[in-house]
Amino acid sequence: MRLVTIPTSPFEGQRPGTSGLRKKVTVFQQPFYLENFVQALFDVLPSAHGQTLVVGGDGRYHNRIAVQVILRMAAARGYARILVGRGGILSTPAVSAIIRRRRAMGGIVLSASHNPGGPEGDFGIKYNIANGGPAPEKITEAIYARTLEVREIHMLDSADLPLDELGSHRLHFTTIEVVDPVADYAEVMRSLFDFEAIRALFARGFRLRFDAMSAVAGPYAHSLLEHELGAPAGTVVNGTPLEDFGGLHPDPNPVNAVDLIRCMQAADAPDMGAASDGDADRNMIVGRGFVVSPSDSLAVLAAHATLVPGYRAGLSGVARSMPTSTAIDRVAQKLGIPCFETPTGWKFFGNLLDAGKVTLCGEESYGTGSSHIREKDGLWAVLFWLNLLAVSGKSVEGLVRELWREHGRCVYSRHDYEGISGDRAENLMRELRAQLPSMPGASLLGQRIVAADDFAYADPVDGSLSVAQGVRLELQDRARIVFRLSGTGTSGATLRIYLERHETDLHRHDLPVQQVLAPLVALAERVARVRHWTGMAEPSVMT
Ligand code: G1P
Ligand code: ZN
Repeated sequence: MRLVTIPTSPFEGQRPGTSGLRKKVTVFQQPFYLENFVQALFDVLPSAHGQTLVVGGDGRYHNRIAVQVILRMAAARGYARILVGRGGILSTPAVSAIIRRRRAMGGIVLSASHNPGGPEGDFGIKYNIANGGPAPEKITEAIYARTLEVREIHMLDSADLPLDELGSHRLHFTTIEVVDPVADYAEVMRSLFDFEAIRALFARGFRLRFDAMSAVAGPYAHSLLEHELGAPAGTVVNGTPLEDFGGLHPDPNPVNAVDLIRCMQAADAPDMGAASDGDADRNMIVGRGFVVSPSDSLAVLAAHATLVPGYRAGLSGVARSMPTSTAIDRVAQKLGIPCFETPTGWKFFGNLLDAGKVTLCGEESYGTGSSHIREKDGLWAVLFWLNLLAVSGKSVEGLVRELWREHGRCVYSRHDYEGISGDRAENLMRELRAQLPSMPGASLLGQRIVAADDFAYADPVDGSLSVAQGVRLELQDRARIVFRLSGTGTSGATLRIYLERHETDLHRHDLPVQQVLAPLVALAERVARVRHWTGMAEPSVMT
């Protein structure tokens, strides 16, 4: 056992965000930076005696080094058993699934999700608790406080373990099992979906293109889609995880997954396209020449959930993050089930799922999931769609248009202004908040503001209150504008403006989205002086 004494904390003012600690790789390469964080984590967790820990990451640059460090420290901490994915690889949903199936005390996920990887890219670490979900704020706060105090790092003085082969190793008093990254996750998928029906769909010649974006979904998609469900070889593209994601930005949206979009618009396009992000928890669904918005995808899954074996008994309720479109609300109303509106971030769904209040949940940011684990789940969403297509005989576009016909279309877009100065972003929000009291009833640019507030959420399970979660304006005809600052960026601030307009007129469903939303953009500019504060004439990304 080695005890390393470190002089001062590198963490002063570096509070981990809502999704764990995400920093540039170069920051993680500082001496004892990762060690300090992991020591703080172990210091605040209850005893590891007799407990199991799960460890794995999305394979990005620095993953291998970090896994070895964590194993040496976790063994020094005294875990009975550590389950680590072969090659140090585990997708975020797989970590969640393994924690739950193997009754682990928790798990460490190494990922910066959809942020770019490589030596100049980002790295990240987060802790998930025994329910399989991200640690709640009181734990992350305690870890942060502890990072400032840690002066001693406990680790074994042992050589790197061979992680590229399945097998079992002994480190001090700890058994380290190198596990197949896919096996447990695949079991969960088999328990939910009608694999026979999906196999028959592929056998009938159905064509899918799954773009794993050179990130961690590759091995999972190869194994399930191609090997088990009979999709032809080549269905999965960019299917080998690369340390720098091959230079791709593994965040599935029409801007980053432009190659997939191009394929899906071609004359010989496959029947369905899909993509997932760095750690495989996000998903994008595309039909032939038809991009599905994440909010619509969630609503379609909810509307037809009982066609899928795992959800045959119906949904106890659904939940969406506040900026996600209200399409799911209408479906829930028709199904007669509750629909919860939570702040942005997956962790708010955890309590609702644990309490059995909701079965499906999702966000506009390409995250969809259910009670099967406590993370969003990219490949799960793809299998869900495949199951629906297989048993309904309908197309991707057909299912979405059916939703629009029945409930109207929530025309929706998110405009991001990236890399702006933190001060100016805060000023914009402050100025906006100051106007809130005078907004309701005001008419601006011919649009009437019906209600305006700064979203606050009282957790219906534990009563905890989250305030200042985003400024929302509700307009006439149930249009909405939402403003909030990103909590996950690693450089500068990002302003997100979410725009939504409910269109019941079938003839307007095919108008260009940005055209339908243009009056809302103008109103957003008027109330928030977006150009002034961001110094940008246009958003950097529109999804
Ligand atoms: C973003 C998304 C949010 C998601 C989070 C983690 O957070 O908007 O929906 O839960 O990433 O994947 P943001 O950067 O907006 O704070
Ligand atoms: Zn992710």
